[in-house]
Amino acid sequence: MIFDTHCHYDDSRFDEDRDRVIETMRNEGVKHFVNVSADRDSLDGTLSILEKYPESYGALGIHPSEVRGLTEDVMEDIREKTRNNERIVAIGEIGLDYWDEGPAKEDQALWFMRQLDLARELDKPVIIHSRDAVQDTFDILEKKHAEDMGGVIHCFSASAEMAKRYVKKGYYIGIGGVVTFKNAKTLREVTEIVPLENIVLETDCPYLAPTPHRGKRNYSGYLNLVAEKIGEIKGVSAKEVCEVTFENAKKLYRLT
Ligand code: NI
Repeated sequence: MIFDTHCHYDDSRFDEDRDRVIETMRNEGVKHFVNVSADRDSLDGTLSILEKYPESYGALGIHPSEVRGLTEDVMEDIREKTRNNERIVAIGEIGLDYWDEGPAKEDQALWFMRQLDLARELDKPVIIHSRDAVQDTFDILEKKHAEDMGGVIHCFSASAEMAKRYVKKGYYIGIGGVVTFKNAKTLREVTEIVPLENIVLETDCPYLAPTPHRGKRNYSGYLNLVAEKIGEIKGVSAKEVCEVTFENAKKLYRLT
């Protein structure tokens, strides 16, 4: 049984065959998934996924690259939608992204902190996106005591040292297709060092398909390949990786 803790099935790249994709992954052992919103449109997009697929859960939040022009009305919208749907299990994805020319750093920080406050108010765990912003992300999470809510550092891309610090604080480390890439030496180190009890599986689909599907559209069924790789690194079976991370995901999203 597989739990995909982070995916984007409302993405237009699934418009033509969404039902078929979800049916295929059911046959591949995917029992639950969390559809994560990133921009304003995907707040509603996530809700329609929940309506359609009974095994799905959702997360609502605005990605750091999408915070331009954001207003308090959108926070109110997230608050209402979260309160009115018990299958909204987290606030996300939120965080910092310094990779390309995105919104000003100060604006990203402001809306990151604002959404951490919202998560606290709504008593939900957080899904953290952090790209080329390792220290600033950690500092803001510290400042806001986000460990009280708990959460996952999604698509983990920092050092093994940093992973240890997050694990110590009780966060989960999200690992996906990147771990199978040839050049992912650091992430394999992270995978080795982080206890399996702190790892959750995620696709971030349609992005980041594992080898040998790299560059193509990703989907949750490919998590079998990710579990195999994690098992290889940690010296356990893929089955054990799936079972343990399934329970971890339930704890992360408080489904137990
Ligand atoms: Ni994502």
